[in-house]
Amino acid sequence: MPSQVPALPQTSAKPHRNLSRVDFLLTQADTILRTLVPHAAQPYRPNPARGHEETEMSDTERRHAAGLMRINHTGEVCAQGLYQGQAATAKLPNVREQMEQAAREEIDHLAWCDLRLQELDSHTSILNPIFYGLSFGIGATAGALGDKYSLGFVAATEQQVCKHLDEHMLGLPQQDRRSRAILRQMHEDEAHHAQTALNAGGVKFPAPVKGLMTLMSKVMTKSVYKL
Ligand SMILES: [Fe+2]
Ligand SMILES: [Fe+2]
Repeated sequence: MPSQVPALPQTSAKPHRNLSRVDFLLTQADTILRTLVPHAAQPYRPNPARGHEETEMSDTERRHAAGLMRINHTGEVCAQGLYQGQAATAKLPNVREQMEQAAREEIDHLAWCDLRLQELDSHTSILNPIFYGLSFGIGATAGALGDKYSLGFVAATEQQVCKHLDEHMLGLPQQDRRSRAILRQMHEDEAHHAQTALNAGGVKFPAPVKGLMTLMSKVMTKSVYKL
């Protein structure tokens, strides 16, 4: 649990193992809607941008900040797909609660990025349903291969996200403190998610697999920056 934020409220949802198949499918459908319908995600924690004044930006700077925040928002859509796909197939007897906690923190990220895009007079990506579907498939496949691969995939993905966040914190217009505050909290959370997955027995992926993931993330970032 990140140190600078209050503990998340416990949700009333019971762990997956206690849900019937119908309940599980309804929960999945609810998550898909909250992920893909703009402005539908509700954060559990306060927005890290609170306390940071909105500052003047040129149109070009504002468009660039929106492009970066749109990439981060789509990254969070992918995270939802990955965690939901994993939940559908993986066993995760010892770390299911930690994975559910991580998935709830991803909803915060999703909602904060969405809100920032609204503040920047911009929009979420029209490609989000495609990236959600792809990520769900990858998460479900990794989960079916076994928990150590599934957790390894989570760790590798989160490490990739941390790299993006580092680049974006440097690439944002200097005065865009609201976006940067959001990315800083996300970075802290993602690093924690990666470590949790590794501690739970996730395998470290070899360089060629990580190279393939980098290639996929390049396709995503190039297309989503504008769309
Ligand atoms: Fe996230
Ligand atoms: Fe994460």
